[in-house]
Amino acid sequence: MAGGPSTPALVAGAVEAGAFGFLAAGMVGVEALRARIEETRALTEKPFGVNIFTPSARSAVDLGDYRERVRVEAERYGVAAGEPEWDDDQYAAKVDVVVEARVPVVSFTFGLPRARDVARLKDVGTSVVATVTTPAEARAAVEVGADALCVQGAAAGGHRGVFQDDPAFPGGGPLYDLLPALRLIAAETRLPLIAAGGLSHGGDVAAVLAAGAIAAQLGTVFLRCPEAGTSAVQRAALAAGGRETTVTRAFTGRPARGLVNRFIAEHPDAPSAYPNLNNLTRPLRAAAARAGDPEAMSLWAGQAYPLAGDAPVAEVVAVLAAQAEEAVVAVARRLGVTGAD
Ligand SMILES: Cc1cc2nc3c(=O)[nH]c(=O)nc-3n(C[C@H](O)[C@H](O)[C@H](O)COP(=O)(O)O)c2cc1C
Repeated sequence: MAGGPSTPALVAGAVEAGAFGFLAAGMVGVEALRARIEETRALTEKPFGVNIFTPSARSAVDLGDYRERVRVEAERYGVAAGEPEWDDDQYAAKVDVVVEARVPVVSFTFGLPRARDVARLKDVGTSVVATVTTPAEARAAVEVGADALCVQGAAAGGHRGVFQDDPAFPGGGPLYDLLPALRLIAAETRLPLIAAGGLSHGGDVAAVLAAGAIAAQLGTVFLRCPEAGTSAVQRAALAAGGRETTVTRAFTGRPARGLVNRFIAEHPDAPSAYPNLNNLTRPLRAAAARAGDPEAMSLWAGQAYPLAGDAPVAEVVAVLAAQAEEAVVAVARRLGVTGAD
């Protein structure tokens, strides 16, 4: 969970509790990433993964009047808007870091890693996970040699993993619900599937395992853990509940699910221009956070966010595991499976 929530303490806490955690490489510098991997290794001897953003296509982006709109917004918060520049989030250098560090599992989002990077990672024994949101993306990920697929359903918090943001779709592409996505993708590939999106209870974990996934990937349930780096303003907004979530391009130019606030409501037609808009709105978001104002910062969260609490990560993982087991037994009984008692 890039952008603040991901910390070495959260990842280490998760893996110590028996889950498999991913450290976010997105939007952190290369040296910071190296340091974070070291820091996590100092906290746990158990394996963990790293998640990398693949670069978005560099195209001539027409921001229309959006630049002016953000300039006015930023002024309200007493800052200048950022430069709407393209960048690649130092993709290649981050791949170098995880290859050198022999990170056992590396996942990618926003597109596929280059074939030569997949080969380099596999050469050092790293498993490569590609995030996909549609059967078509799954087919492309199989082609490039991914070892497993993270299937991200519509309810997921944060950015949609779509390979190419299609402006014709509010969600950047067809918004598949998790279960149909899992079933359709399983019909095409035997690669292990990791299910993500809207899961908040161990019963949900059991449900996706029953649907054929080998694992469940959860984000939002960890946002209020004391070990997470989630901002105080976002924690308060999550705890207060009462807001719907929606998918928006308003903050970053790529579709992402978060709590509805004023900025999202007032900019429903933001252009598809990642990471240009992310760079454009950064000072505004930071200023809003400093001012304690949730109305002009991104509050990424999945649809099930009202069900997430603020327990430590170890407790969240233990509760999920116990609930999953309970759910499996209850379902077996309901189905009359022999020996379920
Ligand atoms: C605050 C936040 C940040 C996220 N950052 C990333 C990220 O850096 N890389 C990534 O692949 N997915 C990211 N995601 C998406 C998760 O990988 C996952 O798809 C999602 O959390 C699952 O849905 P849930 O939030 O309902 O559990 C993020 C999600 C949230 C809520």
